[in-house]
Amino acid sequence: MPRKRPTPAPTPAADPASGWDEVLSAFGPNPASPPPPAAPVTEAAAPAEGPLAGARAALERLSTWVPIRSLTRSHRRRIVEHLLTLDARDRYLRFGYAASDEQIHKYAAGIDFSRDEVLGIFNRQLQLVALAHLAFDQPVPGDPTRTMAEFGVSVLQASRGQGLGRRLFETAGLHARNRGIDTLFIHALSENRPMLRIATAAGAVVERDGGEAAAYLRLPPDSFGSQVEQALERHLGELDFQFKRQAQVISEFVESVAEVKAHFDASGRAAKE
Ligand SMILES: CC(C)(COP(=O)(O)OP(=O)(O)OC[C@H]1O[C@@H](n2cnc3c(N)ncnc32)[C@H](O)[C@@H]1OP(=O)(O)O)[C@@H](O)C(=O)NCCC(=O)NCCS
Repeated sequence: MPRKRPTPAPTPAADPASGWDEVLSAFGPNPASPPPPAAPVTEAAAPAEGPLAGARAALERLSTWVPIRSLTRSHRRRIVEHLLTLDARDRYLRFGYAASDEQIHKYAAGIDFSRDEVLGIFNRQLQLVALAHLAFDQPVPGDPTRTMAEFGVSVLQASRGQGLGRRLFETAGLHARNRGIDTLFIHALSENRPMLRIATAAGAVVERDGGEAAAYLRLPPDSFGSQVEQALERHLGELDFQFKRQAQVISEFVESVAEVKAHFDASGRAAKE
């Protein structure tokens, strides 16, 4: 499809972090909390106001930080579970057709982790609530000098409207630019307003063709800052996952101790009686 240079993205709204809620929110989305404010978009959309603009954008990103983890082959089962949870309409929006369970298994089995990037967001129960697939090496028709990656995403119903889709999009853009990709491509149905909203807010150019839409976001070249940001996010995402895993292990241990205690209490009472 023909491509155009995207218009500059809007300036992200300032959202200073304050209080423990923001600190705790760094350990994962809390379904009980109200949706966080919209996160700022990629550096492509950062305001060009001088040397402090980048630092301010980074601080704003931090205030709405969500741990995002790069997934590997070992997560295939969780990826399948996530996608199988999507209802028929969501599968249609995600894949462009109402993928059957079998097609989902096939899709997950076919992800090439050595080439592509798969990003995930886990909740406190380590359920994969949001998933993005960044497919690299996508050809740009008629322009072999250009490099493009295709972005596909899904967020479980209960976790929507909290900015997770947008955060995955930003992170995918960051990873793509750090791999020398100059364009992020999203294929969506024209009726998919949330997806197109995410793309246009980041500055993507949307081309509609009947019921389908193609969005193209031009990415800036990578920089030392963008590489550091990715490395930092990777470490924090990993730390968050391990933290949640430990918390789950401790919680299971406490539960089993409580079960054993209840068992002995009951048998002690029975012996007394
Ligand atoms: C598209 C999808 C990933 C969005 O996930 P999400 O986490 O709910 O998205 P966000 O919370 O980041 O919100 C995205 C934007 O869409 C807006 N939005 C949400 N629902 C909307 C609607 N019905 N109409 C218009 N805009 C809407 C939000 O307000 C937000 O914009 P804002 O930040 O400017 O307020 C999710 O709806 C989904 O998984 N859909 C099914 C699969 C799919 O469509 N994938 C995309 C094709 S690859």
